[in-house]
Amino acid sequence: MNHKLPGPSSRQVIAKMRKHAYDSTFMYPLVIANGHDCVIEDLDGNRFIDFTSNIGACPLGYSHPDVLEVLAEYSTNGTHKIAGQDFYSKEHADLAEEVSTILPRDFKSFFINSGAEAVENAIKIAYRKMGPLPGVSCMGAFHGRTLGALTFTFSRPVHKYNFPEVPVKRIKFCTSDDDPEIDAAEALLRENKVAFILTEVVQGEGGYNVASRKFIRRLRKSSKSYGVPLILDEVQSGLGHTGRWWAFEHYGVTPDILSAAKALQVGATAYDRKLEPRDRASLSSTWGGGSRIDMAVGMRTIRVIKRDRLLDNATRMGGILLRGLQELVGRRGVVDVRGLGLMIGLEFDTKARRDKKIMELFRGGLLTLGAGQKSLRIIPPLVITKEQVEAGLSIMGRALSKA
Ligand SMILES: Cc1ncc(COP(=O)(O)O)c(C=O)c1O
Repeated sequence: MNHKLPGPSSRQVIAKMRKHAYDSTFMYPLVIANGHDCVIEDLDGNRFIDFTSNIGACPLGYSHPDVLEVLAEYSTNGTHKIAGQDFYSKEHADLAEEVSTILPRDFKSFFINSGAEAVENAIKIAYRKMGPLPGVSCMGAFHGRTLGALTFTFSRPVHKYNFPEVPVKRIKFCTSDDDPEIDAAEALLRENKVAFILTEVVQGEGGYNVASRKFIRRLRKSSKSYGVPLILDEVQSGLGHTGRWWAFEHYGVTPDILSAAKALQVGATAYDRKLEPRDRASLSSTWGGGSRIDMAVGMRTIRVIKRDRLLDNATRMGGILLRGLQELVGRRGVVDVRGLGLMIGLEFDTKARRDKKIMELFRGGLLTLGAGQKSLRIIPPLVITKEQVEAGLSIMGRALSKA
């Protein structure tokens, strides 16, 4: 590790970015050049253990041989990106078929570019059935930053400054079975007509908050009894990070519609075929289903997760991580740790302390990110090994022994 971070090449790139591009949610001065397994290398040759998997988007880590093989297959193919809902491709059909093996029975998929668009299309499917009624969403939720999805996002005020909303009702995201507001959705449904209930099961950007079992099961029960679609947003949690394909599997429920993206490499709205819009062309987009390389990598990703039993690895490695992190609670402002599988949040007493520790970890060679007001998110690639988990934990232990 070159301790002068950022190094000279990285510094140049960052200066160019700041001059010509929007300075977005960059957390630290890391310019990614390459990577192997769960290690990312920056432009100056510094190496970092990756506890972020690019927020779940790189479940197989970096330079995975299966992914490299797919990329090589396309290196001489000049029709790698097509108008994917105007022209068919094999990759589109293959991914749809592969995804159906991990979806609830009788589900179909619609592929799109991003997580936000996956949520937008989930909402559109619900509106088509129910009409333009308010949607229900949770405090602390994150469902994307496009204008429709943003209404249902409530994790940070900066997202919504001067922003008009489509009709919405908010309920508390309950993390305890004893929460007195656990039946708020039922009361809302009794008093109002609503178009859908939309929630994550593990809130991502909201701080890695794990929903109470009773809360999710009650949402399912009441939405079913009022005939209102339940949309579960699995953009961050989906495809194995909680140790199951979908976080909702931990709760013994099935949604009517779900959104996925990140680990899948493309956005996907998956829906019970009873909800399929009758008119053709009511859902479409130019690039949706048309990034052939991404679709092929997405399909291979699912196959590798199955072949290499990576859901089991996520459960095992998540258990080791959680136990190791529990030992840090009480140290240097760490007030809580919680998670499911390889999606773990470590909460600090203040945002300032959390941010300081993320920078220290970065300088120590470990990549983590913030989530919510004062939590640190840990979501390593599914391929992480015990040695890498232990190396990451010891960097954390060192950072949390200093003031
Ligand atoms: C749960 C959830 N939904 C939706 C989104 C939006 O996805 P994208 O950034 O691909 O639009 C995110 C992104 O972080 C997310 O975590």
